[in-house]
Amino acid sequence: MIQTKNLCFKYEDEFILKDVNVEIKEGSFTTIIGANGSGKTTLAKHFNALLTPTKGSVFVDAVDTKKDALNARSKVGFVFQNFEDQLVYSIVEEDVAFGLENLEIGINDINKIVDKTLTELRIDHLAKQNVNMLSLGQKQLVALAGVIAMKPKYIVFDEPTTNLDEKNKRNIMSIIKRLNKDGKITIILITNVLNDLKYADYVIVLKNSSVIFYGEKSKLSGRILKEAGLNA
Ligand SMILES: Nc1ncnc2c1ncn2[C@@H]1O[C@H](COP(=O)(O)OP(=O)(O)OP(=O)(O)O)[C@@H](O)[C@H]1O
Ligand SMILES: [Mg+2]
Repeated sequence: MIQTKNLCFKYEDEFILKDVNVEIKEGSFTTIIGANGSGKTTLAKHFNALLTPTKGSVFVDAVDTKKDALNARSKVGFVFQNFEDQLVYSIVEEDVAFGLENLEIGINDINKIVDKTLTELRIDHLAKQNVNMLSLGQKQLVALAGVIAMKPKYIVFDEPTTNLDEKNKRNIMSIIKRLNKDGKITIILITNVLNDLKYADYVIVLKNSSVIFYGEKSKLSGRILKEAGLNA
């Protein structure tokens, strides 16, 4: 479980997160929804200790991210909103291997994990290709492969379908759903699209740096979504 306790955060003078108290339950599909600038990415960056609270705390499996950032980083994978920046090497298979190379895993095992991950995402035919030559949808899958290869317990997807066409959108969403249902990976999906709520077990609604709803999707009302500036 990931848990925030009175989490407050500011980059400079202004608080970007105010008193956030939420839980990401193990095995769940939790969707964070809110208008542009409401604080979604900032909140999620606390889950893997990319950011640490100005006040309050964040716990990943009961371990405080301020005391042990490595615990959070190893358990929580992150597919970034600007996922193209996440691709470091120019050849697909090297890129997917990147994170694994920092762990103590032999080269044969790394190759096996990379092959298996590429096959799982049906992009094994791209293994030797140059990342810069790929379409946006393919790049998104390569970024995702790099994260899945690390076998995280939780994965944050920050607006993963923005700029993708309908076909790629459906593919990514069905992969995310499968990771949750079959792979038993806890999913945190960030979105500002109401339609994306259909996959959620739990929903966190953010408005101007504060949580205005947290709970089971069945308890979420249209009034709350309207209040958040999302047209219901
Ligand atoms: N590095 C930074 N330094 C200063 N302020 C920042 C920084 N990153 C974000 N902010 C500010 O924090 C607020 C929340 O940003 P955040 O990126 O968390 O919003 P978001 O809900 O993810 O928005 P979007 O839907 O546009 O991605 C915004 O007002 C933003 O300008
Ligand atoms: Mg964002």
